Amino acid sequence: MKAVQFAEHGDRDVIEYGEFPDPEPGRGEVVVDVKAAALNHLDIWTRRGLPGLDLEMPHVPGSDMAGVVSELGEGVTRFEEGDRVALIAGVAGGGDEFSRHGDPTLAPDFHIIGEHVRGVHSEYAAVPAENLVPVPDGVRWETAGSASLVFQTAWRMLVDRADVEPGEKVLVHGASGGVGHAAVQIADYAGAEVFATASTDEKLEYAADCGAEHLINYEDEDFSSRVYELTGKRGVDVVVDHIGEATYEDSLKSLRKGGRLVTCGATTGGNPGAGLNRIFWNQLQIIGSTMATPGQADDALELVWDGTFEPRVREVLPMSETARAHEMIENREGFGKVVVIPDSEL
Ligand SMILES: NC(=O)c1ccc[n+]([C@@H]2O[C@H](COP(=O)([O-])OP(=O)(O)OC[C@H]3O[C@@H](n4cnc5c(N)ncnc54)[C@H](OP(=O)(O)O)[C@@H]3O)[C@@H](O)[C@H]2O)c1
Repeated sequence: MKAVQFAEHGDRDVIEYGEFPDPEPGRGEVVVDVKAAALNHLDIWTRRGLPGLDLEMPHVPGSDMAGVVSELGEGVTRFEEGDRVALIAGVAGGGDEFSRHGDPTLAPDFHIIGEHVRGVHSEYAAVPAENLVPVPDGVRWETAGSASLVFQTAWRMLVDRADVEPGEKVLVHGASGGVGHAAVQIADYAGAEVFATASTDEKLEYAADCGAEHLINYEDEDFSSRVYELTGKRGVDVVVDHIGEATYEDSLKSLRKGGRLVTCGATTGGNPGAGLNRIFWNQLQIIGSTMATPGQADDALELVWDGTFEPRVREVLPMSETARAHEMIENREGFGKVVVIPDSEL
């Protein structure tokens, strides 16, 4: 089969689309004939290399895909050949204290398909059956293959970790990106008044279409001053920040007293000033969040399948052009998700 792969970490020129051994399903695994697969910012980090990440090379990246079950491993009873499925990329071995209490994202061995082990940007992928969810007929492959990682992440951030209440004011950064545009939709669904930041007015128009009420072009104006003005000097209840160093301190400034900052990422760097004075005086909460439990992912995806949420697809490319897909993400071109499709499916 053909797979996206790299034999060493580095710039986009390490990415190849070439022959790779056909996957064999292990016990409890399923082989999926991949129809569409989305990129995440995670694919950029994995390609460049992360501290402590020791991958078997060549590595096949990719943490999102949807397709058709083509082969069942021993012991798989949940699926049959021909079923339409999508991937939930988080894996935990089970048996630890956190998994037993329902939260495998806290398990010591929690890891992500595509980041820590072979991913799914390939014609076929063998994955644990436990990591697949059924995709209803009628849901487009681009939708099914691009929703899972960002909608489950944003769902856990807003619904579980920050516990957003109807009527609260929620500021979402990077509203044009995968997590950001999902967070706008989920905050709006939760009944919040949504403030969105992005770098261009065009991206902000898409954010408005996803449910954002207040649009802030962070290139043109200081977002915390604008939030201060728009909220009558009060501040917002919750900030969704996955940007990191470039936004963190002004995100703290944008919160009302007692407000919550929820973070799942640090695209511009993970070591901003701590802001302890502001945190204790204003009694702020800084809340970390990663991926989601299977139940939380199911809840988010049900609302994708019924059309309540929609991953916006900025571009669909042949899988052989995955390096271009990485370039679009690194250059912050467009709004929403970049999707690749195996060339043999085009
Ligand atoms: N912990 C988890 O479970 C988890 C899950 C998913 C993602 N993440 C992390 O979350 C981050 C976002 O992921 P993603 O896949 O949504 O990425 P993405 O689609 O590439 O979106 C990134 C967004 O960041 C914004 N941005 C970049 N630089 C900025 C700056 N200097 N100031 C303000 N905004 C800036 C961009 O907005 P503009 O184009 O408007 O500038 C873009 O929309 C990544 O760091 C990723 O690793 C973590």
